[in-house]
Formats: sequence, C-alpha cells, structure tokens
Amino acid sequence: MLLAGRGQIPSGGLHLATALRGQQAVGPGLALPGTAIGCGDDGMSVNSRTGRQRRQPGTSRTEVEVVVESVTITDNRNGQTIEIPIVDGGIAADQWSKLLPGVWFYDPAFMTTAAAESAITFVDGDNGILEYRGYPIEQLTKRSTYLEVAYLLLHGELPTTDQADKWVQEITYHTFIHENMRKRFLEGFHYDAHPMGILVSAIAALSTYYPDAKNIFDPEVRHKQIIRLIAKMPTLAAAAHRYSVGMPFVYPDNSHDFPSNFLSMVLKTPESRFEANPALVRAMDALFILHADHEQNCSTAALRVVASSQVDPYSACAAACAALYGPLHGGANEAVIRMLTEIGTLENVPGFIRSVKEGHGRLQGFGHRVYKNYDPRAKIIRDIAYEVFEVTGKNPLLDIALGLEEVALADEYFVSRKLYPNVDFYSGLIYQAMGFPVEMFPVLFAVPRVAGWVAHWVEMLEHNTKIARPRQLYVGHRRRDYVPMSSR
Ligand code: CMC
Repeated sequence: MLLAGRGQIPSGGLHLATALRGQQAVGPGLALPGTAIGCGDDGMSVNSRTGRQRRQPGTSRTEVEVVVESVTITDNRNGQTIEIPIVDGGIAADQWSKLLPGVWFYDPAFMTTAAAESAITFVDGDNGILEYRGYPIEQLTKRSTYLEVAYLLLHGELPTTDQADKWVQEITYHTFIHENMRKRFLEGFHYDAHPMGILVSAIAALSTYYPDAKNIFDPEVRHKQIIRLIAKMPTLAAAAHRYSVGMPFVYPDNSHDFPSNFLSMVLKTPESRFEANPALVRAMDALFILHADHEQNCSTAALRVVASSQVDPYSACAAACAALYGPLHGGANEAVIRMLTEIGTLENVPGFIRSVKEGHGRLQGFGHRVYKNYDPRAKIIRDIAYEVFEVTGKNPLLDIALGLEEVALADEYFVSRKLYPNVDFYSGLIYQAMGFPVEMFPVLFAVPRVAGWVAHWVEMLEHNTKIARPRQLYVGHRRRDYVPMSSR
C-alpha cells in the first residue's frame, strides 16, 4: 500500500492528489472524483465548487486552476475516494480512517504527523521564527522575565500587574521541598550520581508527596501542582547538583528573585547571602526564557503521551524530563562542550569537520528537525555569551565554536542538509563560564522547560485528548507452535 504523488500512481494502491492554491491540474491522472478537475468539450469547463478556468496559450486545452485546499485520496483497490480539507496545514486522520479502516499511516518518528492542535508556541523552521503565544522570542528575552513568560505560556496572555504580583508570590512561596525529600530521597543516591538522573527521579517522587495531584480535572488542584512544579524545579536541580559535587544543600531564599534564588542555591559557599552579578542573573533568566517551550519537541511529546493516560503531572513531567536527558535532545549542550574540549584547538577544526562528514559522529549542537535555518535561540544565546564573558572572562572554547560554525556554514555537506547551530551550540559555553559543571547542562534546560510541559498538559486536558495509542505495522511471525527446548 503506497501513497503516490503526481505521476506515480501505483496500481492496486492508494492515490493521493494534492489540490493546492494556485497549482495547476495536469493530465487525466489527476481528474479525481471529488475535486472535479478536468476539461469540457468546448475546452472551457469549470470546477463549479472550487476551481477557476483558463485556456493554455497556444492550445485549445483549458486547465483548471484549483483553488481549494484539500487532498483527495483514492483507494485504487476499489475506486473509492475521499476529499479531505487541509486545515491549519494539516489533514484530519479520522477522515482518512473512514475511507481506509485498518490502513495505518507509517510515520515512526512523527516526521509528518501533527499529534496536537496547539496555540502555545509557533515555530517557522524555514525562516527561523519562534514565538510564544505570538510574542517574538527576541522581544521576550530582552524585555520579559522567565516567570512572566511562564505565565504567558500557561494563560495565553501577559499578566497585568496584579496578576504578575500574585503569580510571583505564589511561585516564590512554593520553592521549598519536603525535608524528607532532601534527607531521605536525594541523599539515597550514589555519591557521583548524574544530576539529571537525580532530577528525573525527584520529579517523579514529588507525586508521592502530593497525592491530591491525581485529581487532574479539578482546576484548583491542577493550578497548585503547576505552581509547585515551576517553583520546586530550581530547588531540586540545585539540590541534585550540590549532592553530586558533595556540597551542602542550600535552602531557597525567598527574598531573591527567581533566577537569583537559583544561582544562590547552586553557587553559594559560606557567605551568609549570595549575590550573583546582575549581568549573570539577567543572562540566566534570558536562558530560562529561551528554553521555556518549543512546541512538540521530544520531551513535550513524551509529556503529552504519558499525560494522556491521565496520570498525575509529576509522573508525566518526570517522563518528559527523561526524554530531555538524551544526547539528541537536552543532553546536546553537554555533548557540545565535550566535543569542543576534544577538538582542543582551532587547527583541529577542519579535521574534525572532515571526520563528521565521513560519518564519525555528529557535529553536536548542529541541526534540528524543524529549523532548516539558523535557530533564532542560538543567535540570541551567542549574543548573551559575549555579555556573560565580560563578567566571567572569555570561555576559551568560544573560538573553537566560532571556528566550527564558520567552517560548517561554508561546507556543502552542512549547507545542503540545512544544518545550522541550534539552541545547544552556544548555551554550554555560557553555563561553563558561569561555573556549572557539564553534567548540570541538561538540568539547566529542564528547569525552565517545565513551564512548557505544564502549559501543554493543561492545553491537552482542556482539549479532552484521548489516550495516546499509536498503531504498528506488524512484520513478525504469525502463529506458530511452541518448540520444546530439547528440539530447538
Ligand atoms: N552533524 C552531522 N550531520 C548531521 C547532523 C549533525 N549534527 N544533524 C543531521 N545530520 C545529517 C544526517 O546525518 C543526515 O544526513 P543524510 O541525509 O546524509 O543521512 C541529515 O543531516 C538529516 O539528519 P537527520 O538525523 O535525519 O535529522 P533529524 O531531524 O532526524 O535529527 C537532530 C535532528 C537534532 C537529532 C540532528 O540534527 C542531530 O543529531 N543533531 C546533533 C544533536 C543536537 O544538537 N541536538 C539538539 C537539538 S536542538 C535542542 C533540542 O531539541 O533539544
């Protein structure tokens, strides 16, 4: 069973024709039932419902210019056909399954599947555009704060002064974690446990402290868990870090703002009050904003799948956080620093690029499923890096990163595959300069991403989404009889 484009109609299969605005209908192969495309005897027939007509210069043949946005699918096994409108760039699968029950769309990595309707984040990968609820990421990173952005992602609008005050107050007063969580749970990990492993488990463990979280259809209960998750992520992240480097836990200090509090919990040594440099606080907050959401990425997709079973939000966010841990996702910033360190000097850059092209590993922090242009976040982060380096001194790996970018962006391999720096390419350089060990990098990604996860969680519940349950194309054995071990 195949889907065929124009001129590739398999016999005995399916025939899918796309009727897009401004495209011309060509040849009899496209004159499908439902789209009413074709020529009349006088050479001037019209598609009465959807089409315009025009005569081809120098011929008596009239081609109908189709203006409807739809696809027509024909089951060539029986000639049955269905026309499905293209709405918001997608076609509804339930229409497909009406015509073709038992024929599944084979799309293992969701390369062409939209699994949700969402009004949270807009990404235009070809043009390098990212907007949260319509607000360009460039404006938000310059003018907003992470907590305001978290509110925006969740509520759809920027808060008024009163709303912002209440929101910040609520988050600030939920930053503490249960003392047992620290003493009994976190301290149970092996002394050199990776902080991201600790964080994933700690988020899941929160569900045992808040059993009311299971009442996911109660808006008040839901709100409380959202506050707790956003507020406690920095505390858990900092605790994971302190434990993994053998330093004592630092309690939240609610007289700090959100990013300063996080930096205090991570970096504080014996001083009574830790005051981070304002430029570093601002950079931290901007990085939080940049990582707060990115529509249906791997971790958010994991969140949606797990949450569709109606589990509590801590369990769903733990699943999302686990997805973020992988080196193809949030773990890439860690991989970038390891790669830059391994390259070592600028002279080694061309050789490294050559080895990537020969298939020995990937250029970490490059490429993206959606962006086929410069990731707008990478541009902003590169600028933030210079601001941070004015305070911390330049990270010596910056020159290697810039060299890699220059060589890659001029190389046919990367150009033809539209591989550009992504969000992870420069962020690690900043984190490292600020004093974070590489193991903390994915954790720094996870802390603000929780805002996106809970925004998608709420949106999903409000859309009354069914449980996620993909189909498979079974390619294994059919029924066969058990063979005793002695006969194998
Ligand atoms: N270095 C070298 N070649 C690459 C790279 C790379 N970083 N990324 C993609 N390619 C090549 C790939 O080999 C393939 O070539 P060919 O067509 O000859 O087989 C082509 O480009 C398409 O790659 P793909 O793997 O089919 O693309 P994808 O959309 O499945 O993967 C990606 C996207 C982000 C996983 C991938 O680009 C990658 O592995 N990048 C490095 C890891 C990274 O930086 N991840 C962070 C992603 S952004 C933040 C986030 O979402 O967490």
